[in-house]
Amino acid sequence: MLLGVNIDHVATLRNARGGAEPDVLKAALICEENGATSITAHLREDRRHIKDADIYSLAKNIKTRLNLEMAMAEDIQKIALEVKPHSICLVPEKRQEVTTEGGLDVAGNFEAVRDFIKPLLDAGIVVSLFIDPEEVQVKASFETGAQFIEMHTGTYSNTYGKAGGEEEFLKLKNAAEYAQSLGLRVNAGHGLNYENVHRMHEIQGLYELNIGHSIVSRAVFTGMAEAVKTMAEAVK
Ligand code: PXP
Repeated sequence: MLLGVNIDHVATLRNARGGAEPDVLKAALICEENGATSITAHLREDRRHIKDADIYSLAKNIKTRLNLEMAMAEDIQKIALEVKPHSICLVPEKRQEVTTEGGLDVAGNFEAVRDFIKPLLDAGIVVSLFIDPEEVQVKASFETGAQFIEMHTGTYSNTYGKAGGEEEFLKLKNAAEYAQSLGLRVNAGHGLNYENVHRMHEIQGLYELNIGHSIVSRAVFTGMAEAVKTMAEAVK
């Protein structure tokens, strides 16, 4: 299993003072040197953390893969087509949310999603859809032509070690098995941390985990290199 690091919250810290520190590109390069196999950055509609310039700079300078997280917004689709990241991950976005709150409703917006990702696929960009671990969403995702799904692990993470946790884990396991039976590749992410990540090994064939907040939080105390290295070892 591979580790993709989401560096949004390095940008959150930078933007708190409006200057250039901490440097987002430098953080990404340290992640890569310490075991990250891709870098994820979410260009939100309100640009609250990652800015357009970060995307251009990351695309030009990182050595692994850039995974651009984005909502179904035409201006961001335009940037994606210009930058051509290795992959995009399509997520739902609500202006007031603190973080991505749920998976994309691909089944309920099938034609819109299929049509939105077509130019991206045509441009050779790998497309992943961030969905809740539900059969109906997995099937619809497959039918859009996307190559990957990213399973939303937020509920699993929130219920880890508590009532309902096992049920949430089984939802992920079953959704991953079903997706792989259709030929989809499967990533997972959201809310994963140093404590709950180990159960992802019980899900066969997971390709990559995308983890951000817990790594950046640990890095405040240990430095980015140690935080990424420790997570990369756990994920491997
Ligand atoms: N994957 C997706 C699609 C996300 O939206 C996020 C959060 O931006 C993550 C992974 C990483 O989540 P976390 O920061 O909780 O590790």
